[in-house]
Amino acid sequence: MKRFEGYGVLITGAARGIGAATARRLGAEGARVLVTDLDLDAAEKTAADLRERGLTAEAYGCDVGDRSSVEAAVAYAVDAFGSLDVLVNSAARCTPDVPLFEDGPDEVWERDLDLTLTGAYRCCRAALPHLVASGRGAIVTIGSVNGIQDFGNHAYSAAKAGLMSLTRTLAGHAAPRGVRVNLVAPGTVRTSAWEGRAAELDSVARVYPLGRVGEPEDIAAAVAFLASRDAAWITGTTLCVDGGLLAVNTAFHEAIRPLP
Ligand SMILES: NC(=O)c1ccc[n+]([C@@H]2O[C@H](COP(=O)([O-])OP(=O)(O)OC[C@H]3O[C@@H](n4cnc5c(N)ncnc54)[C@H](O)[C@@H]3O)[C@@H](O)[C@H]2O)c1
Repeated sequence: MKRFEGYGVLITGAARGIGAATARRLGAEGARVLVTDLDLDAAEKTAADLRERGLTAEAYGCDVGDRSSVEAAVAYAVDAFGSLDVLVNSAARCTPDVPLFEDGPDEVWERDLDLTLTGAYRCCRAALPHLVASGRGAIVTIGSVNGIQDFGNHAYSAAKAGLMSLTRTLAGHAAPRGVRVNLVAPGTVRTSAWEGRAAELDSVARVYPLGRVGEPEDIAAAVAFLASRDAAWITGTTLCVDGGLLAVNTAFHEAIRPLP
């Protein structure tokens, strides 16, 4: 029996990267997936790719920055699939570092916070009644190691830290109604977010104890676990999927003696 047979799943930012890999993984495990994204054309291509693999998927244009767009996407998923059992919040916005603390513009701070943190909140709020009705509802949000340690990108990092708090408070609120809420915090993952920066990816791989950066499928596997019944007694948690980055202080080890 596939873990998500009969499940209706909505994924934000699912046209590419981690969201798309999660759509493929949950689809392969039996889910009917609504591939939502700001970029509808790309979402259509991703959904078509899933269907070519014999999976069940539809595309829907959804901007997590817009409450009515989010509510329409949730309503569409419930209509199309008959239930909404899993929400995956993958859409986010990361503005490359600007000198925020030297007369930085409010707009950068507000936009990263709005799309990354408030966007996930909008999706959770719209999805929650349906997840309660499902009786096996689960939310998995894509956070980041940036929410835990400083890797730059101030506004984005603050938003990712906020998502961990949202995960815990919503887990408490939703647990009595049978909905689990968890977060996956990836390290560096090879996606379009790193397009044109292959040299940086190679360089950053050196600080990863497991010797490589992540692939979208590494994250999708963790999302699938947390969304599934295998994680039936897990809620409110942050699961780091980061090749050991946060656990091992590579710079410290290198300063004393290189790791073998
Ligand atoms: N790639 C990494 O190194 C990395 C590391 C840690 C965390 N993450 C997180 O993983 C998630 C996915 O990132 P990715 O690397 O796959 O990114 P990506 O750039 O490959 O894909 C992001 C998708 O989100 C969509 N999107 C952007 N704004 C949107 C909006 N307002 N509404 C709906 N969709 C929108 C884009 O169109 C795109 O398809 C994000 O939450 C990101 O912060 C990524």
